[in-house]
Amino acid sequence: MKILSIDTSCDETAAAVVEGRRVLSNVIYSQILIHKKWGGVVPSLAKRAHEERIDLVIDEALKKNKIDYIAVTQGPGLAVALEVGIKKAKELAEKYDKKLISVNHLEGHIYSPFVQNSRGNPVREFHFPYLALVISGGHTEFVIFKNHLDYEIIGATLDDAAGEAIDKAAKLLNLGYPGGPVIEKLAGDVKNIDSYRFPRPMLKSNDLNFSFSGLKTSFYYFLKKNHNEPIKELASSFQEAVFDTIIKKTEKAIKKSGINRLIVGGGVIANLRLRQLFRNLTNQYQGEVLFPAYKYLSGDNAAMIGVVASYKAERKIFVENEEELDRIPRFSL
Ligand code: KG4
Ligand code: ZN
Repeated sequence: MKILSIDTSCDETAAAVVEGRRVLSNVIYSQILIHKKWGGVVPSLAKRAHEERIDLVIDEALKKNKIDYIAVTQGPGLAVALEVGIKKAKELAEKYDKKLISVNHLEGHIYSPFVQNSRGNPVREFHFPYLALVISGGHTEFVIFKNHLDYEIIGATLDDAAGEAIDKAAKLLNLGYPGGPVIEKLAGDVKNIDSYRFPRPMLKSNDLNFSFSGLKTSFYYFLKKNHNEPIKELASSFQEAVFDTIIKKTEKAIKKSGINRLIVGGGVIANLRLRQLFRNLTNQYQGEVLFPAYKYLSGDNAAMIGVVASYKAERKIFVENEEELDRIPRFSL
């Protein structure tokens, strides 16, 4: 059973063909160069770039694969960007008489550690339940992944997502967009030193929600008042404040849920410092943590969407009425 999957939720035009958990082809056209000079994603430019590239990306992903179903990210994401993928998926489904499968973008990130490459590696069985975390430019979310396609959101960011906060800090430091990789590099150069101890938001609250806008504001005022501070130490201290908050909240989530098996997906988990902090944490709780096996699976991609769709196809969960695709997607079934 082969599935063509499409994701245009933000600034990557992505298509893949998967068979079960195996990726047969995967194409990602990143728009970073288009948005870079504006310091963030510009919706109208994203829409146009998706429109210009989508046919090419899909053709390249399809190659000679004969497919059985078409899957598409329904949301959440940038509406004008999502629309491009959804429209194309509908067109193709009509033209080739294939059933459509809609996927929530967050589900994709949650399944991303289970995506296998062409040789079938890494092979991992599922051992439910998992405590799943999605940490990206758009989301910081705690989810209990109870069983296939069965989730419960137990915490989320109340304002900025972790990746967004890092991108904004990078912008204040004139480091360009996206900020994550640059900040990681600068922080690594000073061994992840935490010279300034910026505030750790929401740690006192007993819930599992995040809020990063206060940290961003205090960073802004710090920079306004203090010139000539070493940029590497600033970047490193900011990163530590974000990561320390995530790790402490995760510890809280482990204690609350009693689950010590973790899954972490989303663009920010490309960061090796954060991976190490998660490993340290789960070791402390005799647990384990799973990450996407390849870098391209951390950020936005269509392979992860296709893998979710394959579980939906097995259970015959298809889009019955195309109007469903115009609504905000439900996360759980
Ligand atoms: O998952 P993603 O590609 O898109 C969304 O769904 O949002 O995540 C993008 C985010 C950006 O904020 C980017 O700065 C961050 O992931 N990111 C990183 C790293 N690489 C990308 N953050 C920290 N360290 C990195 N190495
Ligand atoms: Zn994403």
